[in-house]
Amino acid sequence: MSSPLPDFSVLPKHLGIIMDGNGRWAKKRGLPRTEGHKRGAQTFEDISSYCADLGIPYVTFYAFSTENWSRPPEEVSAIMALLRDYLGRAESRKEENKKKGFALRFIGNPDDLDEDIVAAEKHVEGLGATGEGIRTVVNMAINYGGRQEILHSVRDIARRVRSGELDPGDISEDTVSSGLYTYGQPDVDLIIRPSGEQRLSNFLLWQSAYAEFWYSDVLWPDFTERDLDEALRSYEQRHRRFGGV
Ligand code: IPE
Ligand code: IPE
Ligand code: MG
Repeated sequence: MSSPLPDFSVLPKHLGIIMDGNGRWAKKRGLPRTEGHKRGAQTFEDISSYCADLGIPYVTFYAFSTENWSRPPEEVSAIMALLRDYLGRAESRKEENKKKGFALRFIGNPDDLDEDIVAAEKHVEGLGATGEGIRTVVNMAINYGGRQEILHSVRDIARRVRSGELDPGDISEDTVSSGLYTYGQPDVDLIIRPSGEQRLSNFLLWQSAYAEFWYSDVLWPDFTERDLDEALRSYEQRHRRFGGV
């Protein structure tokens, strides 16, 4: 970090980032799409680290959706290889992460992921900051889909009702929230989507009920700390009403 950190009067408690545009970044340069993912992975490392410098309490990065399996198998393999590479280098980030108060969590359905990836994710989750030392929780959404997540919670509720542990009349919003991967974390306040698309693509459906949105034409591999600053400046000006006046 060379320049001093900008000062924001208000920061989102939970920021969501849809990392989009890797393929188009590569195409523009006549490179294979996998090259875009490689550069995008580097941007993730830089921006997640900057979020911890700023002290944003929760940041969720959308890395691979439940719909992304429909891509060519070579592309899916290349994305999983980048994930393995990131997980494999976790020990080298351990001390810095502890110092920064950076804790990594993986959200999404682990069932369809290779066993070695799930095991590495669990291991890496244990390497970051803990307890009072946590300043920023970074959720990496892998094989994540908002509908799948809600379904997962609904199934859990149905099982508890069937066993007689839960009365249908006692099912509250909190009951549904408690079955989500983000349980215990605040709802997402701001969602950033680069690459010119203006849609959620199944990201944090339940948690985004009152989220603010910020879009940019920048493609994810080109996304910089200054772009994040711009989004956060815009967020500072928002007047959130939550249905009130
Ligand atoms: C985002 O970039 C990465 C993933 C969805 C895994 P894309 O690969 O969607 O890039 P575009 O949208 O094709 O440019
Ligand atoms: C959303 O991007 C998913 C991730 C960034 C992981 P997509 O590129 O998959 O979304 P669509 O298909 O354009 O809606
Ligand atoms: Mg895309």
